[in-house]
Amino acid sequence: MPVASFATLPSSKPDPIFAAAKAAKAAGSQAINGTIGVYMDEDGKPMVFPSVRSALEDLGKELSGRSYSYPALTGLAEFRTVVHQLIFGKNAPMLASIASTGGTGALSLNIRLAKLMDPAITLILPVPAWANHAPLCRSAAITVKEVSYLENGLPSTRGVIDALRTTDGNCVVLLQVGCHNPLGLDLSSAQWQEVLEAIKQKKAVALLDLAYQGFSGTPEEDAAPVRLFAESGIVTLISWSASKNHSIYSERCGLACAVVSDENTKIEVEGHYSTLTRGIHSAAATFGQSVVARVQQAHHDQWLKDVASAREMLQRKRTMLMEALPANFHKAVDGHGMFAMLPLTEDQVDRLAAEQKVFMTRDGRINIAGIPLKRIEELAEKIGKV
Ligand SMILES: Cc1ncc(COP(=O)(O)O)c(C=O)c1O
Repeated sequence: MPVASFATLPSSKPDPIFAAAKAAKAAGSQAINGTIGVYMDEDGKPMVFPSVRSALEDLGKELSGRSYSYPALTGLAEFRTVVHQLIFGKNAPMLASIASTGGTGALSLNIRLAKLMDPAITLILPVPAWANHAPLCRSAAITVKEVSYLENGLPSTRGVIDALRTTDGNCVVLLQVGCHNPLGLDLSSAQWQEVLEAIKQKKAVALLDLAYQGFSGTPEEDAAPVRLFAESGIVTLISWSASKNHSIYSERCGLACAVVSDENTKIEVEGHYSTLTRGIHSAAATFGQSVVARVQQAHHDQWLKDVASAREMLQRKRTMLMEALPANFHKAVDGHGMFAMLPLTEDQVDRLAAEQKVFMTRDGRINIAGIPLKRIEELAEKIGKV
């Protein structure tokens, strides 16, 4: 008779991004660490935005007088309100929403919500995608159809549009809004319009992953595709993250929301979000929510400056890297946001790590935001050696 024990567990596999980050850290301070997606300052330390520092100072005075009872399952009302405004501006549509454990938690909730709408729904995932999209879908046991995001090395809507045409039954399309991870290459306005029309025609659900609002263009500009969907009548779900644009990765703060048309649907969807989060890990932690709410209520102008300077620095690094690398790298680096997928073989990536102490994931994805400006030319030189 079989007996379950630790020995019967399948062997665990390390997460490729966290494993590469660990190897980079072990290689010491001279290593060039382009692994995990964190925006670093010139000393290679995670950045604390001045607006966040100010909010933390404000909150510091209040923390001892706070209630530490359980929060509502949907999170802090003030947090949800400020994020609704960040995404939609002053004229936000009616939204059902819930605070989540980072953008990851928001994706997890929205994928599960889509599955509740129809257990047989197919999630269309343009690949390459963020490394955790497929695992999140697997853990929600949703059917996934992977389609190509690229055509001749550039973003294309063809894969999604063909899949919508050829898939029977309901579909949900997962699309990244700005600063594509891992490619840094985003859909153009015309392509957003094309994909919107196809989703509308199929009566499919749109799941928009907004993890880098303010890192490609202004926060307003980056929210444009989301607003387009919200106005289109398409069933639209949004997964938003505070990790990057408030630089509070460790607080695991995000928001899942759904555009709804009436109060009853709002109550119903928030009820489902609440049941779903309860079944995963109950309510999300609230400290990050308090920070985001305070930043947006009291330090919004400074925050706009903070994201603008992060954005400008990212663009400077990308341009510098592009100029320093040979022409066959240009298409890969000419994008927005933190990442690029360099045309390197696994063997070249391994040699970069072993011989040059340059770390990235084995697929060639590099976090440009993790490399100090003063080391960008050195990085290009080292890539040239392999
Ligand atoms: C495209 C994308 N979506 C979602 C996330 C998850 O964000 P968070 O770290 O807030 O969970 C990330 C993080 O790297 C991401 O790149």
